[in-house]
Amino acid sequence: MCGIFGMIGQNAVENTCRALKYLEYRGYDSAGTAYKTDGSLNIVKTVGRVEKLTEIMPETNGCNLSIGHTRWATHGKVCQENAHPFYSYGKKFAIVHNGIIENHVNLKYKLNSIGVKFLSETDSEAVAHLLEKNYSDSVFDSVLLTANELEGAFAVVATNTYDDSLYALKNKSPLVVGIADTGVYFCSDIRCISHFANKVAVVPDKTIAVATRNSVMFYGFDGNPVSVKFFTADTAQETETVDGDYMLKEILEIPDKIRQAKQGYIKSGGLNLPSKTVHRLKRIYLIGCGTAYNSGLEVAAVARKLLGIDVIPVIASEFIYDSYPVDSYTLAFLISQSGETADTIRAAERVNSLGGFTYAVTNTANSSLSFTSSVTKNIYADAEYAVASTKAYNCQLVTLTLLFADLAYLKGSIDEQTRNKIFDSIDVLPSAVDKVLEDSYQISRIAEEVKDSSAVFFIGRTADYPTAAEGSLKLKEISYIHSEAYPAGELKHGTLALMEKGVTVVAIACDSAQIDKMSLSIAEVAARGARVIAVSPYNFDNAALVKVPVVNKLLYGILSVVPLQLLAYYVAKRLGRDIDKPRNLAKSVTVE
Ligand code: F6R
Repeated sequence: MCGIFGMIGQNAVENTCRALKYLEYRGYDSAGTAYKTDGSLNIVKTVGRVEKLTEIMPETNGCNLSIGHTRWATHGKVCQENAHPFYSYGKKFAIVHNGIIENHVNLKYKLNSIGVKFLSETDSEAVAHLLEKNYSDSVFDSVLLTANELEGAFAVVATNTYDDSLYALKNKSPLVVGIADTGVYFCSDIRCISHFANKVAVVPDKTIAVATRNSVMFYGFDGNPVSVKFFTADTAQETETVDGDYMLKEILEIPDKIRQAKQGYIKSGGLNLPSKTVHRLKRIYLIGCGTAYNSGLEVAAVARKLLGIDVIPVIASEFIYDSYPVDSYTLAFLISQSGETADTIRAAERVNSLGGFTYAVTNTANSSLSFTSSVTKNIYADAEYAVASTKAYNCQLVTLTLLFADLAYLKGSIDEQTRNKIFDSIDVLPSAVDKVLEDSYQISRIAEEVKDSSAVFFIGRTADYPTAAEGSLKLKEISYIHSEAYPAGELKHGTLALMEKGVTVVAIACDSAQIDKMSLSIAEVAARGARVIAVSPYNFDNAALVKVPVVNKLLYGILSVVPLQLLAYYVAKRLGRDIDKPRNLAKSVTVE
């Protein structure tokens, strides 16, 4: 899973390095570029960040053709040999790839048998060798043959020594193309490409694209031309640089973004669902991965209260291959900050293919997920750069809560007054979050104790459990401390065995109906030696309290996650972790 870029035009190498910086959210294990000078291909690549690549790039004045890559390792460890681009065996082709070539073992076996030696452990290298093996007198024919030999998900950009065109092959992995006076560009996402070109198109699956300096042509894998629609994309904003960590900046933005999410929802027309779909609705899925899944889990608890029909949160990668029923009475909300997560896009495709209605809830208009869904609702969190998602989670919850309030009203399960009360209650949240942020010194102090924990368990009941799940995910991904979330009532069925001195338990206890039961759970873990921190409007014996203000009971998830985001941040900071780019992760996971 990676970011790829390719261009023909002015200052190709400099622009490729610039683009890789925008694409780094897709992976930051290694970075590299290939470019053509005096008819030969050159590759420069390195383990580490794009910044390091830029430092070692030689002068390439006048070069007008270049490809580039940022890697998140799937096949093969993180090392120089496994970094992209790859040469073909005779250095006639160089390629970058995003995706997974599922038949790479067979391809490698065949190529080995004709004497081709592989220099990396990757699945991608086979593509470069195949291009050279398949070449007789036309690069296009070689690309066509190669495209038909590949199985799996791939977006590949290839350059060669025979002609001055740039070739791209695409199936299932995202690829966009842009045209401007300055050149023609291929890229993994629209946000990056719109720094270079406004006339853009999404390359369809099973398509080959051939770019020259001023134009691009598209062909199917049968070799016949296909037409692809271009549209005008907004020019991307430059990445805002900050002193310190993006994650903290993004947490501090939450009060503003909550306001923005509500205003954006109303301005963009609210629910925007055809009334036919609303009235025949029998089943709703909330589908996402990681933090986006947790927001579905949280809002499902709210939605069940409001709607009285099945509202089922599902992890996208499970939804794709399991037999969750879908028919024309099904509505699926696909939740994704980036809109580029492969599992979520595949899940949307499954819903579409079975006749269900797909509704994207995303922070990225014009993302691959939007193009796969019937309706897209923006969450208006603005760009999120830290790998650990924070403000997007809060905005997903605001948007989904409003969507469900509207849906329940239209379906007749709540009256207008109840719907309006939910809308109005959102307005209290920014100041409630501000209060939590004002207490961040206290959370920072608690972090000092938590940082040495042997494990941290997050517990909660009903709508507090999804908050626990999100708090746990946040802590483990940036601090690397072992952490798990449990519905508090489930502890006694096994996990209680792990409670001992050195363990921390964070108890989220905002549901007033569950306070007595939560007191009991807290007493049980404290009795076994665990340190307990309660996140709640109420006091508990045996627990340090991180107090959250009282708000509408349907909205606690949006508020009580904030101290947990801060806790994860301060613990990771005290442990000296790379907060914005934690190990082994990427901001957007574009492979299944
Ligand atoms: C956690 C995190 C991930 C993402 C997940 C889905 O902090 O960021 O768990 O939430 O990879 O990403 P999107 O929302 O872009 O589909």
